[in-house]
Amino acid sequence: MKTLTTIAEVRHWTQAQRKAGKAVHFVPTMGYFHEGHLNLMRQAKADGGAVIVSLFVNPTQFAPHEDLAKYPRDFERDFAMAESVGVDALFMPEPQEIYPPDFQTKIEVTRLSQPLCGVSRPHHFGGVAVVVLKLFHIVEPDRAYFGEKDYQQMRLIQQMVRDLNLRVEIVPCPITREPDGLAMSSRNVYLSPEQRQAALSLNRALQWAQSQVESGERDLAQIQAGARAIIEAEPLTRLDYVEVVHADTLEPIAELHDRALLALAVYFGQTRLIDNRVLSVD
Ligand code: PAJ
Repeated sequence: MKTLTTIAEVRHWTQAQRKAGKAVHFVPTMGYFHEGHLNLMRQAKADGGAVIVSLFVNPTQFAPHEDLAKYPRDFERDFAMAESVGVDALFMPEPQEIYPPDFQTKIEVTRLSQPLCGVSRPHHFGGVAVVVLKLFHIVEPDRAYFGEKDYQQMRLIQQMVRDLNLRVEIVPCPITREPDGLAMSSRNVYLSPEQRQAALSLNRALQWAQSQVESGERDLAQIQAGARAIIEAEPLTRLDYVEVVHADTLEPIAELHDRALLALAVYFGQTRLIDNRVLSVD
């Protein structure tokens, strides 16, 4: 596996793959890999391209009070894990390679960045959009892989690709969970054993919601209230939001017709976890 640190090296590598007749499949990440990341890489590999993974803890998507400085990092472990699933190149730029001192441009996907996580993290998705657009221009991938764990992020990237006529195909990948149901996240390492136990209420609430749909419930306010009650019953939790929205527009909806997104963000101490499930009638 190649390690690349400059934009010029990435362009050179990408050109060589194309010359060899290979498609380029791209997985953007912030590192500290777990099975969720690895499954994106495995999918990218299984789809038959040369696989490039970026590892960049993007400063512009963190607010000053958030966890940029202490975001978990372990390059050697990440290198070994990426190599073990057949990744061909790892792009690890320094911050100044991506953001030279006079960087000024903003990207805003207006409506999709406002609800859900956009309420408590108003600048987050602007930072995500700008770094992902830059990475797309640097790597010029045929396909890029995004986890449904960050559902709003995935929708926003799909919208940006459509609005700006980017040539990349976005491939959504399902959420990878621990055996007990907790969605995998680099931030799970912050949880104490008690908090980790309490966090199981998230997936419990999501599963309960889908079972309600299967037994005929269509009133999304009822489902939202029930899911909220399941999470609030745990003593160590502090809710950011529990919302049911249209799965494509992320706008509020009252009644389930085909697909709705139940999305939630909950604090356990300082650690904010997100999870979601698409509720569908079939
Ligand atoms: P990061 O949190 O490292 O996630 C990288 C990719 O892995 C994202 O597409 C995310 O949705 C996916 N992922 C994380 N946990 C997952 C899980 N349990 N199951 C499935 N997929 C999972 O998301 C980011 O980095 C950044 O915002 C980035 C897109 C790289 C821009 O900086």
